[in-house]
Order: sequence, then structure tokens, then C-alpha cells
Amino acid sequence: MSESAPVRRHSWAEPYKIKAVERIRRTTRAEREEALAQAGWNTFQLRSRDVFIDLLTDSGTNAMSAEQWAGLMLGDEAYAGSENFFHLKQAVQDVYGYPFVVPTHQGRGAEHIISQVLIKPGDVIPGNMYFTTTRLHQELAGGRFIDVIVDEAHDPLDESPFKGNVDLVKLRRVFDEYGADRIPYVSLAVTVNMAGGQPVSVANVRAVRALCDEYGIKLYLDKTRIAENAWFVRQREAGYQDAPVRQIVREICDLTDGAWFSGKKDALVNIGGYLALRDPQVFEDARNLCVVYEGLDTYGGLAGRDMEAMSIGIRESVDEDHLQARVGQVEYLGHALRDGGVPVVLPIGGHAVFLDAARFLPQVPQEQFPAQRLAGEIYLEAGVRSMERGIVSAGRNAETGEHNRPRLELVRLTLPRRVYTQAHMDVVAEAVLAVWDRRAAVRGLAMSFEPKHLRFFQARFTPLA
Ligand SMILES: Cc1ncc(COP(=O)(O)O)c(C=O)c1O
Repeated sequence: MSESAPVRRHSWAEPYKIKAVERIRRTTRAEREEALAQAGWNTFQLRSRDVFIDLLTDSGTNAMSAEQWAGLMLGDEAYAGSENFFHLKQAVQDVYGYPFVVPTHQGRGAEHIISQVLIKPGDVIPGNMYFTTTRLHQELAGGRFIDVIVDEAHDPLDESPFKGNVDLVKLRRVFDEYGADRIPYVSLAVTVNMAGGQPVSVANVRAVRALCDEYGIKLYLDKTRIAENAWFVRQREAGYQDAPVRQIVREICDLTDGAWFSGKKDALVNIGGYLALRDPQVFEDARNLCVVYEGLDTYGGLAGRDMEAMSIGIRESVDEDHLQARVGQVEYLGHALRDGGVPVVLPIGGHAVFLDAARFLPQVPQEQFPAQRLAGEIYLEAGVRSMERGIVSAGRNAETGEHNRPRLELVRLTLPRRVYTQAHMDVVAEAVLAVWDRRAAVRGLAMSFEPKHLRFFQARFTPLA
């Protein structure tokens, strides 16, 4: 970890210069109060025009390079056999080494298909912490997710370098209890979004693979942020200091049977995803379901131009100057907040700074949605949009109907790639620090509307005071 001097910058700069800008609008406090009330205190329901700095998500919010924009003009919009599909397949083979590719409109399209292909009712799927859409598709296919992440992942203060790792004792216990017949695959994410963007070590992936082999169980990867994970491996794992990120990425993929991918993160595009597979039968089944749910298997719900932009973005994603600036910007914001006394998840993760709402607002009980309230307060302060990652995102237990109660009650400040400057980060830090100063007066929320699935997107709330 680097020095803790306030807002300290190292001698690197973003490896790009700005060619076109998108103007953003400042609002008044009164306008923001009106907008937040209209949105039912749910930042997903705000109109983008009412947001000054948008840290809702890093998903699909990236700035594309000139090469990617140029690539859009090479879109081959044939219904079948688009040239851009073959460019995408080539990029996946070159960078990740998987032979088969099924494009999908975004990551959850791939999650849907792989869950339908591999899971049968009554199965269990062990994984290193749930992700909202991943778990839902596993459940909709009749499966049940079991968390086998290391305990440190649930402790925001634990500074272990690889808090995304699988706990091998927990994994073996699940293997022994359910056996290979009821476990279609292990669901491994790199990095772990809900744990705070925390990485997994290569040694851990290797050990999980060995355990899977011992029991005859498959290993599938959510490689949505694998380049950022590889960057952390290079910084933190013994033996990898001089290894190129590309090599680390490949080493992780080589240990797995297949992967799903949301191109909207690492691959620097605004839309797109795919499945990357090794097993010819799984590929046949997946590409058949692709036709049902996404579109023909050479476009999967994407325009040819989108596949072209994604194939270029995949190659750009493993550029080390890019990763240094990307992860470095997240760290810059995280350290500014930490140094100001704000409770944040440590170490700072790869794509976002996560505020620990449980320690930020200890007077608000979890069933009054402290992280949801805190995200609203940060918006009111300066027009900065973040999102809740706590009890609202965790949803309800599929069997009992009770709230799932995650140990982490977080607000996520997520950084789009190549979009904002250091000055934007300073404004964000000042806004959060201003809420921190008035935290004692902040109360909770009541939920006034709850949708059936993925409630965090569309739920509505009213302030308790
Ligand atoms: C780790 C992870 N997996 C899967 C997904 C789903 O991808 P998409 O939003 O493209 O459907 C996301 C998106 O937020 C993610 O962060």
C-alpha cells in the first residue's frame, strides 16, 4: 500500500488526452431535493441530467478511445456471420485463450445462458461472495448460491491483500456435503465486486482448481474485472512483480473451464458481453440458447459495431499504463477519504471506493437502510451519485422471504474508466467529508415500494426525518 499523506500523487499521469468533452450541469440544493424526492430516494431513479458527477457505476459508463470510435465505422451489420464477431472471437482467444465465444447483449445475458445450461433444480453453486445478477440467474435456474469467500472479506478494516480469495476449508466442506452430482460448478469472480472490488490471488485460483479436480467439479469464472485483478496480483503477489498483466490474465483463465464477461467494465465499452468456453458440448448448448434469448450466435443482441468496439477494448484493457491510472485514480479518492477520517473498506479496491455506512451512520439500524440514506445525502450535498450495496442490494432469502442481512452495509462510489479528472475526485471527497461532518443528524429511511426482483434498482423510500 502506498503512503498515507493527504491526496498524494505519484509521478504518473493518465495515458490519454481529451479530444471531445461532454458537458455536465451543476444544480442547486433545492433542485437536488426535488429530484431525490421524485426518485424515491433511489439514486438509480434519478435522471442523469440532475447528476453532476456520476459514480453510480463503472458499467457501460467508460470513455472509448479514438480507435474504438473509429471501429464503430467498421460495423458489419449483417444478420449472420458479421466480420466483427470474428474480430471479437480472435480478441478473446488472443487475450484469454478460450476457444469458443457466445456473444450476449451484456453480462447478465451470459449469466442467464450459462446458468440454464449447467444448473438443474436442487443444485448448489459455491462462490466467492454473491453478485446480484449472478446469484439471481443461478436461483432462477433452480440452484442455490453458497458463499465460500474468506472471512476477511466481510471485515471492512481487514487489510489483507487478497480479500476476494476462496476459503478452501469452506469449499471442501460444501464439496463433501453435496458432492459432485449436485455442484455443477464453482462460481469464481475476479475481482469481487460486493466485497469492495477485492482481488483473488493466482495461488488461490490454482488451489481452487486443484480442489475442483480432486472432486471432479468444474470451475467457471466471472472475469468481468480480470485486468484489474491482474494488476493487483502484480502489485501484491510474491513472484509476479515482473510478470506482464497479460500473462497473469492468461494464467488465471487457463485454470478455468469457461467464463462469463460483462464487456461494460474492463473492456471499455458502453454495451456488450459474452460467454467464453472450452467444452464443445457446453458451447453447443449455450449457442443454441443464445438464439432463443439474445439473437443469432454471431451477434447475441449486439450490433456489429458494438462487437468491434469490445474487441478493441479487450486489447486496451490489459495495457499497464491504463491500469495504473485507472486503479490509481480509485486509490487517490479512497486515500483522500480515509485520510479525512471517513470509514472506507480497506484496502481500496479496483473499481470503486466503498464507504462503510454501518460505521458512518451507527445510529441508523440496518432495517432503516443506512447505506441507501447515505447515498441520498451525498447526492444532496453536491450532486454526486453513488449507490447502495447493503441490505437493499442483498434482497430477500428466496426460501424464507426475510431480508438477507449482509455483514457489509456499504455505499459504492464507482469510477467510470477514463471519464473523470483528479479535480472531480477532489470535489467528490469534499462532498463526502461534508456529509461526514453532519453525520450525527442523519436518520434512516422506510421502504415504500419493493419490486420482486433485484429490488435495489427500482425500490422507493421515504425519509424518516
Ligand atoms: C461482477 C459482475 N458480474 C456480472 C455483472 C453483470 O453484468 P451486466 O451489468 O453487463 O449485465 C456485473 C455488473 O455489474 C458485475 O459487476
